[in-house]
Amino acid sequence: MQQIIGPFTQIVTFKQTALKGPLKASDMDIVENAGVRVDSGVIIEVGPFEHLTIKEATHNVMVREISGPHVLMPGLIDCHTHMVWAGSRAADFERRNSGLSYQEILASGGGILDTVKWVGQATKEALKKLLHQRVLIHQSDGITTQEIKSGYGLDAQNELKMLEVIHEVNREVKVDLIPTFLGAHVCPKGYERASYLDYLLTEVAPKAKLLTHRADAFIEAEAFPVQIAQPYLMALKNLGFDLTLHADQFSSGGVALAVQMGAKSADHLEATTSQDIALLGTSNTVAVALPGASLGLGMAFAPTRALLDAGACLAIASDWNPGSAPNGDLLAQCGILAAHQKLTAAETLSGITFRAAQALGLTDRGRLVPQYLFDAIAFPTHDYREILYQQGTLKPDMLWKKGDLLINSAT
Ligand code: NIG
Ligand code: FE
Repeated sequence: MQQIIGPFTQIVTFKQTALKGPLKASDMDIVENAGVRVDSGVIIEVGPFEHLTIKEATHNVMVREISGPHVLMPGLIDCHTHMVWAGSRAADFERRNSGLSYQEILASGGGILDTVKWVGQATKEALKKLLHQRVLIHQSDGITTQEIKSGYGLDAQNELKMLEVIHEVNREVKVDLIPTFLGAHVCPKGYERASYLDYLLTEVAPKAKLLTHRADAFIEAEAFPVQIAQPYLMALKNLGFDLTLHADQFSSGGVALAVQMGAKSADHLEATTSQDIALLGTSNTVAVALPGASLGLGMAFAPTRALLDAGACLAIASDWNPGSAPNGDLLAQCGILAAHQKLTAAETLSGITFRAAQALGLTDRGRLVPQYLFDAIAFPTHDYREILYQQGTLKPDMLWKKGDLLINSAT
């Protein structure tokens, strides 16, 4: 059955909003006093509510009347997370704030390697429960599609366990979980890097390929330097994986590799140079900023203003993980990033909707236009500018996933 939903004070459609470069308010294609006609989870029409309901007499439709001021926008897309983990790294936070660096903690055998130990000890059921809870928290913040990486397994059994956890929880929830194979997160103890990557290629990647078409690697001196990572990434490409890279978090090099390999996205970019910015500005590789990691580690934000001005497609993701980015609240992070980097609402909200969809290679979501999924969130306000201004404290009071109303706390 068709549904007509409205009226909304504003609908942020992003109908013709550009995929790359800077944006201003008029680029958002906002329609006022409007509604949406939906059939089988897909948008049929967006337009003035009165027009939609006049036509209603001729169709078999259900009308859902929205009361009070509301802004409707596409459901949020979080294109980079590590939401499967066990244990806490609160001790790392305290160590870093007492003078140790993230890399020093990792080099001493802690950091990511501690989480690897705890994920190895956790049962699949325990990890599923933890992930399920986090997905529901994310859903209440407005996220309707999220990417989730492995990378705390670092052996065949545990990398595949993580990917299976993502698949199984994906069947339990309504929002979409997109898995990514991150076997090359760091080198486990007892291995030499190149031979660990050989092990991943022969023993893990072919099985991981049955569970995901996406692969990631952490490009950094303490993880996998460019020269060591490049042949591994080439081999993954030949196996049919789409690539995304942890690039330029602490030092430059990863972005050039990502662009050279035709990666879908280069993520982090805190240490990105003006040369890297120019490269991303002219490439199809999406630049993904992770403000939650800057907040967690007390580092500078990625140069997102400069990336947009150079013409890049900028997405923004939470990087939700226990080490660098334990906060997880994507809208709060976006409100803070926007204030620091002077990003318009059009640029920021594009980065967590259709531009994030681009990073994931998804072309059916992120805008509210005909033929797209009706993944949408409504905020109890009359002005879209409130969403970022309130820096995460304004939550959506309605959320639809493929046309199903999953959250309805509107009064
Ligand atoms: O994106 N830097 C590499 N990986 C993650 C952090 C993982 C962790 O510290 O547990 C990141 O920041
Ligand atoms: Fe990450």
